[in-house]
This record gives sequence, C-alpha cells and structure tokens, in this order.
Amino acid sequence: MTTREQTERARLLAEAARIASACRKCAIGGERRNNVYGEGNPCARLMVIGEGPGETEDKLGRPFVGRAGELLDKMLAAIGLSREDVYICNIVKCRPTLRTPGGLRNRAPDPIEIANCRAFLDEQIAVLRPALILALGAPSAKSFLGPAFAITKMRGRWYEGPHGIPIMVTFHPAYVLRQTGGEINAVKRLVWNDLKQVRARLDEPAPEPPIEQAGLFEG
Ligand code: URA
Repeated sequence: MTTREQTERARLLAEAARIASACRKCAIGGERRNNVYGEGNPCARLMVIGEGPGETEDKLGRPFVGRAGELLDKMLAAIGLSREDVYICNIVKCRPTLRTPGGLRNRAPDPIEIANCRAFLDEQIAVLRPALILALGAPSAKSFLGPAFAITKMRGRWYEGPHGIPIMVTFHPAYVLRQTGGEINAVKRLVWNDLKQVRARLDEPAPEPPIEQAGLFEG
C-alpha cells in the first residue's frame, strides 16, 4: 500500500465522518452526544464491526472504548493485533438508547436505524476494501447475512459478505462479559476458536495487488 493511497483513504473517511456527524435521520441522532463513525488503520486488512456505540463511546466519540472495548482489545491482542492494525466501527453510528426510570440504557439498534445508517457503513467498507470482516454479535451478523442468522449455531464459519469479502462472526464481547460462572470460559473458548480462524486467514499470502497499487506509477 502506498503512502498516497493511505492518505487518500484517510481523507475519504474523514469526509464521510463529517457528513455522518450531521445526520439526523433517526431520533437517536438528535439524542446522542457524538456520532461514533469509526477509527483505525485506513489500510487495515481486518475490519471489526460491532453493533452500536454505548454510553462511553457516545461520550468519547470513539468505538469500543468501554468495558466491551477492553475485552475487544484483548481479543485482538490474542491474535497478535492492536487497534492500529485494524479498523473498528459499528453498524449504527449513534447510540441506541432506551428511556427507563433509572435513566438512559443501551439497547440494540432497530431495523430502521440499521437501514438508515447502512450507507455510512457501505462507504467505510468501500474505502477500506478489507481482506476480512469480523462481525461482533447477532445484530452485526444479521445486517450482513440476513435475519435468519442464528449466532449460536452459525458463528465460527466463513460467509461471503459485501463485495465478496469473507466474514467471520463471533460473539460480541459485551455478551461474553454478561456470562456467569463456568459459562464465561466456555464462551471465551468459542470466541478463541473463531479468532484463530481470522488469524489463519490473515496469514495466508495476500493476493497480488492490482498494478495501479504497485507504486510504479507514482510521482
Ligand atoms: N458495543 C458495540 O457494539 N460497539 C461499541 O462501539 C461499543 C460497544
């Protein structure tokens, strides 16, 4: 990947983030503190896609920076990756909330919010053109693979995603953190199996880059 390509991708993502930050298509767009567009390496080979920002992400404007994010960092580190190696975002960019007597609670994004936000996600995928996508949790998986996707039975296998990009689905780190007793380690073991498949596929030799990306025609 040339420096010019990297700079151009970063510019396209920054421009798309600016447009996304003005979006008010959904009610949650008017309630959120920050539009959490996504962040990471614009040339990442792995794109990690979660569900939607939570309270901490909404406050800081960055994806996966709360407790689930801490576990995601450990999951990535387990396969030799840091946040600088990957690109991280969500299927919706505003925090989906539920008003309760105890205050605002996180909730899963609804189908309209997911559809409204899809163009922003599609743009990110089109700019990144990652080698692989890791979808975290059922809402993210279903948004790519259809509503019938049953995470417990169907995670841990490769599927064909947008632009033919292979997608691996694993449990969302927040789901892992909600497990109790012996279930935690059982679920972590499944996640580990899924992550090992991602590592193995990243280690396969990369296909030849198109000649335009080979750097011969720069300058
Ligand atoms: N959960 C998500 O799905 N995304 C975040 O950014 C944080 C928590």
